[in-house]
Amino acid sequence: MLAGKRILLIIGGGVGAFKSLTLIRTLRERGARVVPVITKAGQEFVTPLSAAALSAEKVYTDLFSLTDEAEMGHIELSRDADLVVVAPATADLLGKMANGLADDLASTLLLATDKRVLVAPAMNVRMWEHPAVQRNVAALRNDGVLFAGPTEGAMACGEFGPGRLVEPDEIADAIEAALKGGPLAGKHVVVTSGPTHEPIDPVRYIANRSSGAQGTAIAQALSALGASVTFITGPADVVRPTGVHVIEVQTAQEMLEAVEAALPAEAAVFAAAVADWRVVSASDRKIKKDGSGALPVLDFAENPDILATVSAMGDGRPQLVVGFAAETHDVVEHATAKRARKGCDWIVANDVSPETGIMGGSENAVILISEGGAEDWPRMGKDEVARKLAARIAEALA
Ligand code: C5P
Repeated sequence: MLAGKRILLIIGGGVGAFKSLTLIRTLRERGARVVPVITKAGQEFVTPLSAAALSAEKVYTDLFSLTDEAEMGHIELSRDADLVVVAPATADLLGKMANGLADDLASTLLLATDKRVLVAPAMNVRMWEHPAVQRNVAALRNDGVLFAGPTEGAMACGEFGPGRLVEPDEIADAIEAALKGGPLAGKHVVVTSGPTHEPIDPVRYIANRSSGAQGTAIAQALSALGASVTFITGPADVVRPTGVHVIEVQTAQEMLEAVEAALPAEAAVFAAAVADWRVVSASDRKIKKDGSGALPVLDFAENPDILATVSAMGDGRPQLVVGFAAETHDVVEHATAKRARKGCDWIVANDVSPETGIMGGSENAVILISEGGAEDWPRMGKDEVARKLAARIAEALA
């Protein structure tokens, strides 16, 4: 339920805008107050009168309205809400948001707000898939903007594919999830994920097979419990978690710098598969065969151990530091030794021998090693492992 919550609803100019009226009704039925803002283009699809009638609120449309400014300035309007929602969010609005433009009331409110922003994009499939729009979407996700959809389906223009506005009920669910306090509300958690890439020359690198799936699921689960999450990931193919601050890095050294910059945090979860070694002096030119049959020789240096470094921190050490251990045999013994060696609080250990199918698969069977000993978790989906771990972290920080 959304009792007592105030939503600032920005209605953009897309063919899905008619659904914003149902959204207003749905949100009010769930107990929220909805203050509509309609862009100029939005008014071609939805009239301020309909929005006013359904919301029973004053509707805002103009940045330079003397009466509106006298009653409630646009800065106040942007901050008075618990959540700012943009539905439908057009390609134009996403572009303005991603680039910090403010040339009308909606874009100015989006720039001035100190609240979380949730967008429900709606546009033609080619527009949604255009690299320019995808660049903007990635930038906004990076900024912590939450996304509801778009979904795939038949579109008003007759084409089929992603770009369709999600249904008002689902937008309302996403709004509820975003506003839910949760046991980790007000806590900051840093999560590392994915592999690292260590360059050999400008075109070659050393990497590993980490998919980033478990780290991503953990970041998502922590965020669902209300944590503010900084998600630091090496190059991974999995879709980034939503509603978290994403920082993309390549190398172990960059990952350590990003972690240090992200602290302080109440907890840190180091799920990344960090390369143990880097090439000492990566060539700034592509290494070529010279025809003599001579083989290149690479010198290696040890990478910083991020988990051990953070675990050993004095004042700035997170209250709870969690590491991972991927083992192929004697899992409990090795993981227990690793916990002591790295100085972390918990080790999430798993058996990654090929017959388990865990590496690259969707399931995981973990053993949680803590001061109290080893606790076996039954085999379950990586999402479920993430939720269980997030719940345990919430208990530990309570
Ligand atoms: O020593 P090992 O690589 O098995 O340790 C795994 C744990 O240590 C993981 O939590 C991983 O994220 C972390 N780690 C790290 N920095 C490294 C190597 C590992 O944070 N350079």
